Amino acid sequence: MEPRRVAVLISGRGTNLQALLEACAAGRIRARIGLVVADREDAAGLERARRFGVPAEVLSPAAHPDREAYEAALDALLRRHDIEIVCLAGWMRILGRGFVARWEDRLLNIHPSLLPAFRGLETHERVLEAGLPVTGCTVHLVRAEVDAGPVLVQGIVPVLPGDTVESLRERVLAIEHRAYPQALDLVVGDRVRVVDGRVVIRDERPGERLLLHPLLRDWPQPAAAAPSGGAG
Ligand code: GRF
Repeated sequence: MEPRRVAVLISGRGTNLQALLEACAAGRIRARIGLVVADREDAAGLERARRFGVPAEVLSPAAHPDREAYEAALDALLRRHDIEIVCLAGWMRILGRGFVARWEDRLLNIHPSLLPAFRGLETHERVLEAGLPVTGCTVHLVRAEVDAGPVLVQGIVPVLPGDTVESLRERVLAIEHRAYPQALDLVVGDRVRVVDGRVVIRDERPGERLLLHPLLRDWPQPAAAAPSGGAG
């Protein structure tokens, strides 16, 4: 079977794009990244695409009268490149209902929290503020509501004593780079169905939708030995 043609949409540095490019190049995903689109020309990820020989286009919102026209141009660009599946990877624009409906179940996003917790921006700040022991990332199918939609894969990392927003962001990013290729592989392998708003994977193997940071591998911890009662 021909590899599926995937586009990646970015607004920034594109480390998730890099992870997807590498996974495709290594044959770990049966897909070919056929196009990268950025909504700003200073998106550093554009250079990563070019290094892999992938067409990298800038589609500037300022060049279009409104969101509808912008999304129509985006849709036309994707079709010109025969794109079948679209991955949002740090794409900072909210996509309208029409666009999302046209690409339903073929439009993926990655978010740096364990959805449905911490939708929106500044997720790591809020996780630290809440004093949580774990956080992570979610790859999901996009729906019109922001940071919502059937969950494909989640990756879980610990929050460690002394963590800062930066250190937590780095740890979450590292698991994002594993989670996105894994989720995309499920989609390009036609193994994903959505039933009642939830993802069902054909012939799912345990752990295919869940990635754990090495420090969490022994989870759940064996029950702590009961303290000796001082009897005798
Ligand atoms: C990631 O944290 C992703 O979850 C969020 O935006 C960030 C993009 O990072 N949606 P990068 O551009 O892939 O490095």
